[in-house]
Amino acid sequence: MIIRTDRDGFVHPRSSEITPRHAYLGRRQWLAGLAAAGVAWASRDAWAQASPTRPGKLAALPGKMSTVPGATTVEKPTSYEDATSYNNFYEFGTDKSDPLQYAGTLKTRPWTVEVEGLVNKPGRFDLDALLKLAPMEERLYRLRCVEGWSMVLPWQGYSLAELIKRVEPQGSAKYVEFVTLADRQQMPGLRANVLEWPYVEGLRLDEAQHPLTLLAFGLYGEVLPNQNGAPVRLVVPWKYGFKSGKSLVKIRFVEKEPRTSWNLAAPQEYGFFSNVNPQVAHPRWSQATERRIGEGGGLFAKRRPTLMFNGYEAQVGQLYAGMDLRKFY
Ligand code: MTE
Repeated sequence: MIIRTDRDGFVHPRSSEITPRHAYLGRRQWLAGLAAAGVAWASRDAWAQASPTRPGKLAALPGKMSTVPGATTVEKPTSYEDATSYNNFYEFGTDKSDPLQYAGTLKTRPWTVEVEGLVNKPGRFDLDALLKLAPMEERLYRLRCVEGWSMVLPWQGYSLAELIKRVEPQGSAKYVEFVTLADRQQMPGLRANVLEWPYVEGLRLDEAQHPLTLLAFGLYGEVLPNQNGAPVRLVVPWKYGFKSGKSLVKIRFVEKEPRTSWNLAAPQEYGFFSNVNPQVAHPRWSQATERRIGEGGGLFAKRRPTLMFNGYEAQVGQLYAGMDLRKFY
């Protein structure tokens, strides 16, 4: 069971609050969101079918359907059970089932994210301030792991660009470094030297400012389960999953390309960019196809072709115009 305890400060929903998505959003708001998105009637139906109902495990965190182009694929979402039991969160162990089993020790309140470096307005943002910083949106994103599996997940959050514009990056800021929590008391996986802790990831400033780059606080219309990166994480849908740091504590604006945990661990395997690119094989396996979690089949699972930039090429391709994506993998 994935029930957050009261010590984390979240209020458990009553069963009467566990309502279908269209009900908790309000039918009118729901339709207005669709209209604002300029979604054709046929795909509105598809989205309505694709959008899952609240699982009723954690506190509600509704969001208005995003109008950011590409943010609302109508693919079938992965089940809540799969999304919350098959995870990578090495601070809690390296098995896929470890985060669900051990992340209960993660204390997600109080929580602050420090924004520092080459910005005019650095600051410490309390979680409640971050939750109110911009309107909460719902986005359905494909996530593709470098290991060759993928999911489709409904997130709640807003574009990281909203936070970036408030802190006013200086002209010399070219990259953004994301540092996640490393606390031995709460995270048993830190005893193993599988990665350099804290887990650090980075983006070029223009990638970080892209509207699809999401600062996520929720999943399935509820606050993030611990194992999925509570209370706040990054989601960068066109990059391999490891670029999306969980349980963020620091965002730093820098001039030089940051050293990232995976790049430090295996530079020949994990480059800085890590864009999903079926034409560039991982040194130990192909990246041409992927297995969608939940589709079953075990060893004989049906694999689907992996799309360039994970299917977000129309939205992000121009960020890499003129770059040799074999060199900058
Ligand atoms: N963030 C932290 N702090 N620690 C991690 O081990 N794993 C990454 C990424 N973010 C990881 C992390 C990897 S490899 C993947 S594929 C995604 O989180 C998985 O996210 P999910 O478990 O929510 O699907």
